[in-house]
Amino acid sequence: MIALSSATSATKVGKASYITTPIYYVNDKPHIGHAYTTIAADVVARFRRLDGDDVHFLTGTDEHGQKVAQAAANEGLSPQAFTDKVSATFRQLAEDIGASHTDFIRTTEVRHKRAVTALWQRLAEKGYIYKGTYAGWYAVRDEAFYKEDELVDGKAPSGAPVEWVEEASYFFRLSAFTDKLLAYYAQHPTFVIPKSRYNEVISFVKQGLEDLSISRTTFSWGVSLPVGEAETDPAAAPSGERETHVVYVWLDALTNYISALGYPDATDLYTRFWPEAIHIVGKDILRFHAIYWPAFLMAADLPLPKQIVAHGWWTNEGQKISKSLGNVIDPYDLVDGYGLDALRYFLLREVPFGQDGDFSRRALVGRINNDLANDLGNLAQRVLTFVAKRGGGVVPTPSGYLDQDRRLLHEAYGMLSIVRPLIGQEMAFHRYLEALWRLIGDANRYIDAEQPWSLSKTDTARMATVLYVLMEVLRCVAILLTPVMPGSMANLLHMLGVEGEDARNFHALSSSYALEPGVALPAPRALFPRYEVPPSVEEII
Ligand code: MSP
Repeated sequence: MIALSSATSATKVGKASYITTPIYYVNDKPHIGHAYTTIAADVVARFRRLDGDDVHFLTGTDEHGQKVAQAAANEGLSPQAFTDKVSATFRQLAEDIGASHTDFIRTTEVRHKRAVTALWQRLAEKGYIYKGTYAGWYAVRDEAFYKEDELVDGKAPSGAPVEWVEEASYFFRLSAFTDKLLAYYAQHPTFVIPKSRYNEVISFVKQGLEDLSISRTTFSWGVSLPVGEAETDPAAAPSGERETHVVYVWLDALTNYISALGYPDATDLYTRFWPEAIHIVGKDILRFHAIYWPAFLMAADLPLPKQIVAHGWWTNEGQKISKSLGNVIDPYDLVDGYGLDALRYFLLREVPFGQDGDFSRRALVGRINNDLANDLGNLAQRVLTFVAKRGGGVVPTPSGYLDQDRRLLHEAYGMLSIVRPLIGQEMAFHRYLEALWRLIGDANRYIDAEQPWSLSKTDTARMATVLYVLMEVLRCVAILLTPVMPGSMANLLHMLGVEGEDARNFHALSSSYALEPGVALPAPRALFPRYEVPPSVEEII
């Protein structure tokens, strides 16, 4: 018994990390924007896991509200049948783009509805909910209320059509949080990244916040409230009136981040992961995450998430992506046409996270052919086929390192400490990849300078050392690129003879895990085939 408990406590449990994607509206099929947010979150989750963290990674679907109810009606399905169907396509997408999530939440699940009701009750008990009438603009597409002066040419700033809404509603005293939020942002300068978005949030809050309508009565697809239970100001309730309120879909949706951890119960999951939460979201939904959500949590006396990371938007060949323009990008077309890892690499390498970017097939093919096939694929191919043909298909035996060997090995072993803050603190995926490509570039220059193919005729001992150094560099590169391209890097590690989870973790990025000379290697295969642009495609891109 004693031995068992000491063995358990000796097992190292990593630092808790909680990574979330937004939960996706199920009004339509998944598109590239959804894939982008999930892939970015997945890279963070995988990176941290390889770095020793204990990672909880949540994604899911946002299924209530007017927009989804309307989409269900358009298809002639009940909202439940409709959301069951569409939610399954998002679950499938997460799998098909390689997401390594540990939970998938649907807002129609009992665990979630229970949490929403509990949070509402808590806000009510604390005196932050009152009843009134909402009269103002609402955009169903954004599921958001807008003030008159926010409208642009009679539409929401997002371009979504708005309608005038006048209905009984419960309100959340958001106005009470203007100063508290500003003080919080000031004390937590990395609460929202990038900095430009942090500043944007602050200037919005500085204009002053109005109370927020948090229930709707004109449709019923949502978490319903027991009227009366939630009232904090009975005098304000029109006597005898019995409307059915459903919780405003954003209050409902944001709660997913804690309902998935077991809230309102103080579960181990909740206690361990909630304070470590990092929400990865698009810039369009930053206001909800960086203002409303922290205010709800402050009101309920719950801890705030650690950080909110906002990314930019993709356009398609220079145009805004929209259904009406018919230029929505289907992630499946890209995965089928170019390969999953190439897509993951492209999305994170092409555009600095946080900025808007333009998707074009020409740029994608350029990245595949130059970065993946030429720089990395060719290097691996040259080294591994040479080892297979001239080195007897086993890990070569090095003898006596020269300065240039040591320099390159040193660069490879030191890479993690250089790139860790780029993912850990800045979410600068493009710089992370750039740094790795500098190493790959140095390895390419090294092979050209050392010419192992000439050494095979003059100095086979030196040839073996050069090949060994290159294989070591490839091993480090493959481990570090695994979060971005898990499938192809697993292939590369296999070709290098690196098997087993332990040897593929970041702690293996040192000479103590160096390849063992003499170990037999599998036959090498091409990693990233070049993408030849057929003339017909060339014409249209
Ligand atoms: N349901 C809400 C989120 C609730 S989270 C508590 C929602 N869903 S969504 O399906 O409309 O969008 C989810 C994500 O997709 C957002 O992060 C959004 O930024 C992202 N994208 C949608 N279109 C996009 C692009 N064109 N480019 C990049 N990402 C975009 O909002």
